[in-house]
Amino acid sequence: MAYVSATDMVIDARNRKYAVGHFNLNNMEFIRAFLLAAQETQSPMILGVSGSTAKYMGGYRSIVGMVKPFIDHLAITVPVALHADHGNFAQVLDAIDAGFSSVMFDGSSLPFEENLHKSEQLVEICRKKGISLECEVNGIGGEEDGVVTVGGTADPEQCRRLGLIGINMLAAGIGNIHGKYPADWPGLHFDLLEEIARITDYTPLVLHGGSQIPANMLRRAIALGISKINVNTECQMAFAAAVREYIEQGKDRIGTGYSLQTLLSPGVEAIQRVAMDKMMLFGSVGKA
Ligand code: 13P
Repeated sequence: MAYVSATDMVIDARNRKYAVGHFNLNNMEFIRAFLLAAQETQSPMILGVSGSTAKYMGGYRSIVGMVKPFIDHLAITVPVALHADHGNFAQVLDAIDAGFSSVMFDGSSLPFEENLHKSEQLVEICRKKGISLECEVNGIGGEEDGVVTVGGTADPEQCRRLGLIGINMLAAGIGNIHGKYPADWPGLHFDLLEEIARITDYTPLVLHGGSQIPANMLRRAIALGISKINVNTECQMAFAAAVREYIEQGKDRIGTGYSLQTLLSPGVEAIQRVAMDKMMLFGSVGKA
């Protein structure tokens, strides 16, 4: 079965210096597009689900119930992890209970000792169930689920302590932000990334806010230890642009062009292309 945790994926990515793409789901069309992209490029892949998407799509259980049969239906053979993105403690437990194969506990807004303590509890729970666990130190900037934060930079000592408790992936702010990057964005802090990679002893590192980061920066980040890159905004923008073009060309008014499967298919094709381009750039093609 292609449905697996992200543990082995990110270890392999860390060792062979590529990154696994984490693509956020927003509706059913995203599941189809990303599964097809992964299969076509023979890439391992992580499907991310934020708390608000879980609510929108009927809860974590509904999503597991949709993704697993979808994998079989499309005869997907590459490894796919279903990952609860930025969960609080209760959401993470809910996602684990629902059958997610991977979770992210985002305790970055908590006092560090509390973040560490809760992360330690989750390490035990996830290890017993064979689920991969990502934790975060220091908020990643930008806007996600209506929460706006400025681009943070992580404290390496906190990264070291969190990285050594047995988590599978560590997300640490290195100037990256969720959503669109402002024109005057100064870029990623590579010195900090290098230090975090060294001090966390080869824990696979995660780069959030992977949309719109220039290719040369991403390649350098991967070379320095980034093993998973999260992408959402760029896919949503591509989907919206493709559907807008279809409607602006009046195609929904011709014949049965109003049929939602037809109307949304340019969006599906657009995000499949974005995902495949990212997989190429991340170096995950052929690594399944
Ligand atoms: P973007 O929306 O900026 O691509 O970030 C996605 C992300 O980091 C999800 O956790």
